[in-house]
Formats: sequence, C-alpha cells, structure tokens
Amino acid sequence: MDHFQYQDGRLYGEGVDLTALCDQVGTPVYVYSRQTLLDHYQSLSRAFAPLDPLICYSIKSCGNVHILRLLAEAGAGMDIVSGGELHRARKAGADPEKIVYAGVGKTDAEIRAALDAGIGYFNIESENEFETIAALARQAGATAHAALRVNPDVYDPDTHAKTTTGRKETKFGVDIDRAAAFFARYGKDEHLRLDALHLHIGSPIYSADAYAQAIEKALGLIDQLRASGFAIAALNIGGGYGADYTTDQTPPYTLYAERIVPLLRPFVEGGGKVILEPGRTIAANAGVLLSRVLYTKTGGTRRFVIVDTGMHHLVRPAMYDAFHFMWPTVVAADFVPSQRGLEMNLAGLETVDVVGPICETGDILASQRALPPMQRGEVLATFTAGAYGMVMASNYNAMPRPAEVLLNGDQWTTIRRRETYDDLTALEE
Ligand SMILES: Cc1ncc(COP(=O)(O)O)c(C=O)c1O
Repeated sequence: MDHFQYQDGRLYGEGVDLTALCDQVGTPVYVYSRQTLLDHYQSLSRAFAPLDPLICYSIKSCGNVHILRLLAEAGAGMDIVSGGELHRARKAGADPEKIVYAGVGKTDAEIRAALDAGIGYFNIESENEFETIAALARQAGATAHAALRVNPDVYDPDTHAKTTTGRKETKFGVDIDRAAAFFARYGKDEHLRLDALHLHIGSPIYSADAYAQAIEKALGLIDQLRASGFAIAALNIGGGYGADYTTDQTPPYTLYAERIVPLLRPFVEGGGKVILEPGRTIAANAGVLLSRVLYTKTGGTRRFVIVDTGMHHLVRPAMYDAFHFMWPTVVAADFVPSQRGLEMNLAGLETVDVVGPICETGDILASQRALPPMQRGEVLATFTAGAYGMVMASNYNAMPRPAEVLLNGDQWTTIRRRETYDDLTALEE
C-alpha cells in the first residue's frame, strides 16, 4: 500500500520520524514517499508489461517538478492538460514524445507551445478543437499526432458524479457514435494526423469491468475505422485506477491487467501502441498531509478538533465527500492502527469532527470520526493525500499553502518551500 507505518507508536514515512520532521519543517506539510511512488509506478508497469504500454503519469494528480523528474527518470511519459503542465513536464526533463495532451479548453498559445515542443499526442475533445489545432500546425509547418477522445457511454456506479467522465452527457470528448463521421471528415489531415483513440471513463474505478466495457467498444470502433481505411496506431485507455483510501481497497494491478491485457493483446500484436494515464494510483498513497491540532472544543453535542489545515489544502472531503483516514502521529500502544478504515474497533476512541480554520461551515476534513483523544499541539496525519491534494490547494482566507517534502529512506528534502505572506501579495504589486 505505502511506506507510512507506525513503529513503537510513532508514525514513520520510510525511515523518517514524521513528528520530529514536523518539529523541523513546521505544519501543515505534505510529505511524499519516493519509494511508494516508484513501487506503484513499477508494479503497474509490471502488470501491464505484456502490452509494453507507454505509461503517461497524469501530472494533474500531483505535479511537483521533483516528483515528475523521479517518474520521468523511471521511464514515465506525462499526461498534461495545460500549458502550465507542459512547462512542468519539460522542467522535469520529460521526453516530449512521451507527452499526451488532453483537456477541453486548450488555448492557441498552449497549442503552439505543445506543437513547438513536439509532443506525442493531442487528445482531441471536439470538432472545433481539431480544426483549430490542425490550422495552427499548418501555420507552424508542423506535423502532430492526434487521438480522438471518445465517450464510450460506460457508467461505473461507484464513481463520484463529479469525477465520472465516460458518459455521453459529459463535456469531455465526442460521443462514440460520432467517431466514424469525425474520422471521415478529418482523418486525412496532413498536419494533424488523426491516428489514435483516447478513453478516460472516470476516477477512481475499482473494478476492471468498466474498463473492459469501454475497451471493447473502442476495439469495435477501431475495426470499423480500419475497414474504412484509417490507420489506428495507438489506443490510450486513460487513468482512473484506484488508491487505498482504506486498507486493500484497490484490487492488485494484476487483477485490472488480467481483464484488460487479453482484450488488447491482438491490437498490440498487430503493431498498435497502448497508452495508460494513471495519476491517483501512483501518487495518492505516496503522500500524507501533516497538520497540528490548534484547539479542541465542544459545540452542542459535537466535539471538534481544529487543525491548522483544511479545505484550502485538501479539498477532497468538502468537494467529493471523500474519505481520508486520519490518525495522530504519536499514539499509545493500544491505539496503533492495525488497518486504515472508517470503523476502527478500538476502545477509548472519541468521536469528533476534524475541521480547519477556514470561515466556511463546509471546512470539514472528517465528520463524526472515531479518533484517539487529541490535545492542542499534537500532529494529525491525513493519509492517501498525495493525489488531488496539493495540486488543488488554494490561498483562500489568505492562508499560505503548505510546504512539500520528499522522503528517501531516512533522508528528506524540501521540494517546495512553505509559502510566505509576501508570496500571497507578490503578484499584486
Ligand atoms: C484524461 C484524463 N486522464 C487521466 C486522468 C488521471 O486520472 P487518475 O488520477 O484517476 O488516474 C484524468 C483525471 O481526471 C483525466 O481526466
């Protein structure tokens, strides 16, 4: 799952005592485990090895340049959705040919930068966008490759409404039944070579069934397109693989692969390239958010633990009702958690709301959660916070964003310094 474990009642990240780390770097702080990032990337690669896929790490999930560099050095390509993410990918030394670029609202300036960089694929989200990129490529005298993002109209009932993307009624991509007409219209463009398909059905998806359904539809479409004379060189099956917000929540990658690999093997044996765009599954378990208890109080029948982080640093609970396991970094022997989940079955826990300092009633990190009793000054760890954590953090209420630290064995490095008040006003002068 990850390299965050208790030893003698103290939480360690790899070989680093995280409470002592907080004394040095302060709180709140996002702490990432290098080994967890690599373990997830490598086990996903191993599971899908029979397809020899290109794995493009989804920068949107956790985009610190140092983390991108680590993954690029391990062989990953990058999945980007903006000029800013292209900039990050390039700063991290990613191979431009291994970059795929999705997103429904690419600007002309962003498209020109991506053409200039020579990225691998533009993932096309609409007819209008295809025409724009093709025109800009023509103007630049460039040739680029495009994958048409199709909505296979697959629904995974366990995916949150705000993160499901594979249905017809979504702003992403084009309906699969419009794809043939799309190829007929644009499939012979000389500057934007339309020779691939792209799918991304949502996130997180804990069963391989939804992928299988979507891939089967895409393979049917590929047969149809090939019969009409279009060469389809690549199929990008997107991201969305799960993370362990609770212990063993995610099936092993081999279970996803058992279902997906046989479906795609003939495509690969026929010379096709498979692309994967995982983000969460690589980054989520690799990060914890550490905060300090500022106050405890009672309101009516409820007990509150007020910490120095909140929805401005980790918006997932407020935005998606997401569950993040939380636990103090120092606990008595009776309170060492044997697994991570909602029901902890330990005697002496106190049911509390963990809330942040933001002036919003919705600034809740955990509601009615059973935790060991906590006091002012103690450190609380929020687990599985590596993905869609820091990247979605804001300065709401003029609160500086947390520092970021990368662990490597018993060593650690600050990979993003804590913001200062001057950072808050720096662009307003
Ligand atoms: C097109 C696309 N690819 C990949 C991803 C990454 O998803 P995940 O982090 O769940 O793997 C997303 C997430 O929104 C996406 O929109």
